[in-house]
Amino acid sequence: MSKVHAAITAVNAFVPEYILTNKELEGMVETNDEWITSRTGIKERRILKGDLGTSDMATHAVNGLLEKRGISATEIDLIIFCTTTPDMVFPASANILAHKIGAVNAWGYDLNAACSGFLYGLATGSQFIETGKHQKVLVVGGDKMSSIINYKDRKSCIIFGDGCGAVLLEPNTEGFGVIDSILKSDGSGGPYLCQKAGGSLRPASHETVDNDEHFLFQEGQAVFKFAVTNMADVAAEIMEKNDLSSDDVDWLVPHQANKRIIDATSSRCGIAPEKVMINIEKYGNTTNGTIPLCLWEWESKLKKGDNLILAAFGGGFTWGSLYLKWAY
Ligand code: UT7
Repeated sequence: MSKVHAAITAVNAFVPEYILTNKELEGMVETNDEWITSRTGIKERRILKGDLGTSDMATHAVNGLLEKRGISATEIDLIIFCTTTPDMVFPASANILAHKIGAVNAWGYDLNAACSGFLYGLATGSQFIETGKHQKVLVVGGDKMSSIINYKDRKSCIIFGDGCGAVLLEPNTEGFGVIDSILKSDGSGGPYLCQKAGGSLRPASHETVDNDEHFLFQEGQAVFKFAVTNMADVAAEIMEKNDLSSDDVDWLVPHQANKRIIDATSSRCGIAPEKVMINIEKYGNTTNGTIPLCLWEWESKLKKGDNLILAAFGGGFTWGSLYLKWAY
């Protein structure tokens, strides 16, 4: 019997309606559209308003996905919810999502690898398909970054946005699906990009709130330096490992953290700009949401057999790349 790969058989996403433009940010912090655009490539980002959490965006994305694929939520075996902004510390957002969509036969868990989470999720979800353990695995990637952003900190509030995407993994014996992945981490990078309080080390207190420790903290330049080399290197590494030339690659799907990091990755891999998925100008950095949001927006252009290279870098530090043959 030919090898079983985990193929993406459906993709969908949800972005909130509210658009936070660079112009509006100019009225909130000392910044300007020219600085944001030239340093990051971002023009606007979406914000989830109201009493809603990441699982609410996921519910929209997954309900649409199930409809597209023409299956019922009861057929889902496993939900891997990749997020850094779960609805609450526990229970897992995977459990909350399963309940909201009616996936009564699924088990699931949250996976937190910051901006590399969706890649980690695809790689781990694939294992359950390849071993034959499961037939239908949902990998969800999304964040309500606005819930941990300090809108007084101009260094971070201009970057992040809210959004969520999801893919369905199913077995494929024709050679399509996840072919290979390279995943890495280096915990010494933790202090450069983190949320200092709210966990077991620094539980919420008046002091942590007064010190703004429940907001995302980032030393931008330090993260940039690591991201720009490591994301490019790991994308090039998976191409070399699989004997792929830049001509063999149909699409580069990079995490959308900064347009300059994306450009460095595509030029390191020799991939022409028209083959690079970029929507950072519309959504900013949605953390776990960036890669599925790209797949969703480019879905109609993708062809069966296309070679996709996915690459990400994020807090942890975590980074990685994944080689995927599009299945439909
Ligand atoms: O997705 C997870 C991984 N995260 C990343 O990959 C993010 C990596 N880092 C970055 O993308 C960039 O470092 C940032 C976009 C966060 C910052 O860009 P930068 O080019 O590294 O700027 P900087 O922090 O070196 O700041 C340069 C100057 C500073 O002014 P001085 O000290 O030179 O006078 C900042 O105070 O720009 C100033 N600045 C701003 N000016 C206008 C910082 N933020 C702003 C702003 N508007 N929003």
